[in-house]
This record gives sequence, C-alpha cells and structure tokens, in this order.
Amino acid sequence: MSDTQPVILTCAQPTGGLTIGNYLGAIKNWADMLESNNCFFGIVDLHAITVDYTPAELRKNTLSCVAQYIACGLDPKKSNIFVQSHVTGHTELAWVLSCMTPLGELQRMTQFKDKTKNANNDDDTSSNDEPQSKIFVNSGLLMYPVLMAADILLYNANSVPVGADQKQHLELCRNLAQRFNQKYSDTFNVPEPYIAKQGQRIMSLQDPSRKMSKSDVNLNATIFLLDDPKVIRKKIMSAVTDSSAVIEISEDKPGVTNLLNIYSAFTNQSPEAVAATYDGKGYGDLKSDLADLVIAQLTSVQERYNELMKDTQYLESVLKEGAEGAQKLAFKTLRKVYKKVGFLNRF
Ligand code: TYM
Repeated sequence: MSDTQPVILTCAQPTGGLTIGNYLGAIKNWADMLESNNCFFGIVDLHAITVDYTPAELRKNTLSCVAQYIACGLDPKKSNIFVQSHVTGHTELAWVLSCMTPLGELQRMTQFKDKTKNANNDDDTSSNDEPQSKIFVNSGLLMYPVLMAADILLYNANSVPVGADQKQHLELCRNLAQRFNQKYSDTFNVPEPYIAKQGQRIMSLQDPSRKMSKSDVNLNATIFLLDDPKVIRKKIMSAVTDSSAVIEISEDKPGVTNLLNIYSAFTNQSPEAVAATYDGKGYGDLKSDLADLVIAQLTSVQERYNELMKDTQYLESVLKEGAEGAQKLAFKTLRKVYKKVGFLNRF
C-alpha cells in the first residue's frame, strides 16, 4: 500500500453469511487489486441496521465477515479491512451529502422502490431483486445510498469494484461528487465503478429472474460460502432449469445460463467456452461438475475461515489496524469538507 497508488474502496453488509454472488461479483475481484492499489474494504454495519436484525447476530456476523474476507484472499497486510461504525466520518459526510440530495432522487432508487413495494404488497408477484420477506420502510432505508456515497467519497476512491446491482448507487455517488465539486470547488474524485465481466450478476438458483441474495426466504436459492459440501451439492442439483436439456447461453434459458455463468466466474473462462464443453451432455452432468467445482473452491476458503475464527484476537487486531488506516484518510477528507461547506474550525 502506498499513498500514491489509486484508492479502491468497496464494502459488503454483514447481514448473514456471504454468498457466492458476493464472492464472484465482488470479493474475488477485490483480491486481485491488492498489489497495485491502496485498498479499503469496509464491513458496513451502519447499513445493516436498515433492515430487521438482532444486535447479537450483527456482532457475530461482523466478525465472521472479517474472517470470510481474509479467507477469500483479502490480505490485511496489503489492505485496510475495517468496520464502518469504527471510523468517524461516514455518517457525518452522509449528512452533508444528504443536504445536497433531492428527496425524489432517493425515492426513485430501484432498491428503495423494491423494498417499499414489498412492504406494501402481500401478493408479491414482482420481479424485483430482493426476496419477498416483509420490510419496515424506515428512513435509513431511504438514506442508504447517501451513506454509501459517503463511504466512497470519504476515501476519495478512484474505483469501486462491485456487482451489477450496485450500478445505480454508484451513479448517485458520482452525481453527488460532481454536485459538491461544482458548488464548493474541486474536492472529490468522481469514482469509477468496476463491474467485472464475469460473475457480475449471479442469480437465484430457484428463481433465476431474481438476484441471488443473502436474505432470500427460499434456502435453496442461495449458496453461502460457509455451506456444508453436501448442502452445496443438493442446492446445485435442485437448481431450476428447463425442459429442453440443451446446454447453451440463452435469454430463454435463465436457469442454465446462470449455472454456466457461475461455472465461468469460478474458472475465469467465458460462459460460451464452458457451454461448448457440454455439447451433447445433459443438465445432470453440468450440475454435478459444477457442484464438484464449487465445493473444491469453497473447501479451501472454509478451512482458512475455520482457522481464523479460532483467533478472535487476531481478527480484532486486523480491524484495529484497518480502522486506524481508514480513519487517517477519513479525517483528512472530513476536515476539507467541513471547511468548504462553511463550518468553523474546532477550537
Ligand atoms: P452487499 O452486501 O449486498 O454485497 C456486497 C457485494 O457483493 C455484490 N453482490 C453480487 N454480485 C453478483 N451477483 C450477486 N448475486 C450479488 N449479490 C451481491 C454487490 O454488488 C456488492 O459489490 N450497498 C452495498 C454495500 C455498500 C458498498 C458501499 C459497496 C455500502 N457502502 C460502498 C461499495 C461501496 C451492498 O449492499 O452490498
């Protein structure tokens, strides 16, 4: 890490275990960025309380998330792994940005609309990304994208590696950066989203029109990084496909296309190349090979995770150092922002 390298900032919510969607769409790519960037990997506990949760679970999931990050290859010696609530500045900057964000812009965000629809609609037949559980529409949910913009701008990030579902949030962040720069003079980099070609949108195994999600009520829809191998196999073998039994990438075959995309993201091949190797074979062959592949890849992650979880002190020391590194940059940005918006220096 060096101060002259580009800054990468990205985060995940500690709401339950991480999924292969999180891994393939995000974390796997973050691990490739460690060498040539100044990396900040947040665990956004402030975002996690916008949905129903229990405090004890949140504490457990936050620590578990650190261990999962490291087990997936995020080296704490080459990056800053931190918990959002440990760094002063996220909520402060979010407040300043919220005063520059029209209410209508937040109300029009797809994620907010989806969640509101869920809350108001018992007969949920919508094709939105989020699962069907009932949600209490609190104002934190509305403010969510502003806090996310603050997470990014607080570190003056150049690039933000995320899955395709975060594109709209990134767009808002870019708009806010530009708006602030225009109003108060150049302050923020306008961050670029980095959305990988493969794995950017892993879909539910049970309903491939929906994103694979941590909180899906259908337990067979999502593969978690910490799932038991037998469970992984069962979930993949029972994934929804179609009746034509031809293995190809096609809009008419979202289930098989999703399985091919997962295969391709794990092996860094194109989905078409994977499909070609299954010419003349059946869905059972593809599913069985995919199960072997996912289990093999996740077994090493799980072994490392189990080791890490035995040493809570180590995990806490990672977070302490990560927060110290993050705080330095956060204070620098916050001071600059407070000065530009007209707040008096502290005496
Ligand atoms: P979260 O916790 O939902 O997901 C973490 C990362 O995983 C990606 N992802 C997926 N990629 C492909 N297919 C999927 N099915 C899938 N599910 C999740 C997400 O795109 C994300 O990159 N709002 C963010 C957290 C956040 C954040 C930030 C991200 C808060 N502040 C600042 C980047 C920068 C979220 O809910 O991620």
